[in-house]
Amino acid sequence: MNVELYERIWMWVAAGLLALFLCAIFVSAGVNAIQPPSHVETVDPTTLATNPEFGTPGVKAQPDGSVVVSVVAQMFSFSPDPVEVPANRPVTFRLTSPDVIHGFEVVGTNANAMVIPGYVSQFTVTFKNPGEYLIGCNEYCGTMHHNMVGKLIVKKESQ
Ligand code: CUA
Repeated sequence: MNVELYERIWMWVAAGLLALFLCAIFVSAGVNAIQPPSHVETVDPTTLATNPEFGTPGVKAQPDGSVVVSVVAQMFSFSPDPVEVPANRPVTFRLTSPDVIHGFEVVGTNANAMVIPGYVSQFTVTFKNPGEYLIGCNEYCGTMHHNMVGKLIVKKESQ
C-alpha cells in the first residue's frame, strides 16, 4: 500500500497528539490524586428526613480518631453548614440529595464529588491545612445554584 509522505506525516502527528493527551490524563490524575468513584450505596431520597443517618446530618467522631461527615445537599444549601473537622485526620464524607443532582467541592482541595439523589457518594480526605474553606455546588441545580455554597472549617488538632 502506498501512503503519501505528507499523509504519513499527518498520521504520525495525529497519533502523537493522542498519545500526548492520554499521558496528560494519567499524569494529572496521578499528580492530583484523582480517583474514579468506587462507592455504590443507595438510599431512599423520599424518606431522608427520617433516615437514621441523613435525618440528622452532621459530623461524627469515630473511635479510631477518624471522622465521618454526613451531608445532605438540597436546593440550595448544604446541611450541616458550617462543617467542622479536625486537621490531619481522615475525614469521610457521605453525601446525598433529596431533590436533584448537586456538586460538593471543597475549593482548593481535591475533595469533589457529585451528589446524586438515591445514592450515597462517599470519599475520604485528610485536610492538612487548618482554616476556612468554601464548599461550592458545581452542578447546575436550579435558579439559585450560584448561591449554593457552604463553609468547611478545618480546626487545628488539640493535643
Ligand atoms: Cu446545588 Cu448547584
